[in-house]
Amino acid sequence: MKLLLTVLKQIHKPAVCAGPQRGRSSCASSGLSPLRDDALVVGSSRELVQRLGSQVDVRTGFITEEEEGALLRELEPGLKKKRYEFDHWDDAIHGYRETERARWGAACEEVMNRVRSAAFPEGGPLLGPVHVLDLDKTGYIKPHIDSVKFCGSTIAGLSLLSDSIMRLVKEDATDEWVDLLLPRLSLYILRDQARYNFTHQILRDEESVFNGQKVPRLRRVSVICRNLPG
Ligand code: OGA
Ligand code: MN
Repeated sequence: MKLLLTVLKQIHKPAVCAGPQRGRSSCASSGLSPLRDDALVVGSSRELVQRLGSQVDVRTGFITEEEEGALLRELEPGLKKKRYEFDHWDDAIHGYRETERARWGAACEEVMNRVRSAAFPEGGPLLGPVHVLDLDKTGYIKPHIDSVKFCGSTIAGLSLLSDSIMRLVKEDATDEWVDLLLPRLSLYILRDQARYNFTHQILRDEESVFNGQKVPRLRRVSVICRNLPG
């Protein structure tokens, strides 16, 4: 338990990367372009959105409200024992508490198996415990890249309790960016370049605007599966 939490601290070291500048959010000037009908992915150019298309996936309604309830019933008792952490200036996450989980009750295990088969090749080695991150309403995740030492090519996360926006920014060309709308109950999957060459972040409530539209950020719990480096 303790060991993995240490690993996660290293995962969360911020990458050297400034996010998109403020004021760039106007749709008209930023070349926002929907990837699919449901337009859950927009970006700095159509080419970038298309190029990253196979490496970012957002599946709405991946779980039901009942399944969200089952996950929270298992997770809340452990989370409630912890306090949200706000003050570590060098952390990549602000206003969070976290835990991990290796075993689930039957209903939740079924959900986790669905996540695994949607995101990872069968039989590939996964990072044992699932990571659970609880962001306070005022919490947010700064731009970072998950540790390449501890995590493999794919990151898959369920979003509970709140919609949110995940922003990807190219590490060596910060004018190249993509925003993913992550609705509550959705699953997102980041793979390959999207995982290695772009930082990811979850926007704070004040900045949570997708394609010109405010997306209120409430308390958000994410349940994240990762594979091991190959
Ligand atoms: C992380 C992370 C995203 C999420 O914990 O490294 O990027 O969906 N989390 O909570
Ligand atoms: Mn991350």
